[in-house]
Amino acid sequence: MKFFIDTANLAQIKEAQDMGVLDGVTTNPTLMAKEGIKGEANIAKHYVDICTIVTGDVSAEVIATDFEGMVREGELLAKLHKQIVVKIPMIREGVKAIKYFSGKGIRTNCTLVFSAGQALLAAKAGATYVSPFIGRLDDVSTDGLSLIEDIRIIYDNYGYKTQILAASVRHPMHIINCAKLGADVATCPLTAILALLKHPLTDSGLAQFLADAKK
Ligand code: E4P
Repeated sequence: MKFFIDTANLAQIKEAQDMGVLDGVTTNPTLMAKEGIKGEANIAKHYVDICTIVTGDVSAEVIATDFEGMVREGELLAKLHKQIVVKIPMIREGVKAIKYFSGKGIRTNCTLVFSAGQALLAAKAGATYVSPFIGRLDDVSTDGLSLIEDIRIIYDNYGYKTQILAASVRHPMHIINCAKLGADVATCPLTAILALLKHPLTDSGLAQFLADAKK
């Protein structure tokens, strides 16, 4: 399973990249705003900065919600860097835009996916990635992980190549369960990736080895 980091924070992206386990980055308008990145030129520069830190795919989201607007923005984003994947919301015009981009060889990430039916539409339109938001489903008492399971079954039934990018990941058990269910990618906050490292027996075992090494 590939690990993407879900942030627009350059220091956190560098930290994950330095660990040697990072395969890409996802951003969204909320994450960009959190870093105080405003204005078309600054946003474009920030995406390019992210692409220079990582070697994998970087999702950059369109703001437009009409087909023509999404195509215009998406084409500009795709031209910024070869690692850019255009992130498109799961709405009717978005499905049209994904189909358009797929025909042009521009890669897409279909975002805000909350049902298997939406994931099926994204795959049929030719999305490169589909982003089911598991944490936000859990937040409304719906099992986010069972959506990953359903999408995996549907995509495997028909051989869809769209990669399942588990999004809205909140903690290490989300990551582990996504891997068990066959998600292609999990996009995670740095805290969830670092939490995978932790085990008290590793800490106590290492302390013991280091103490014994001095004997
Ligand atoms: C990633 O592509 C999504 O935008 C992100 O994972 C959403 O996460 P959140 O539900 O924690 O905001």
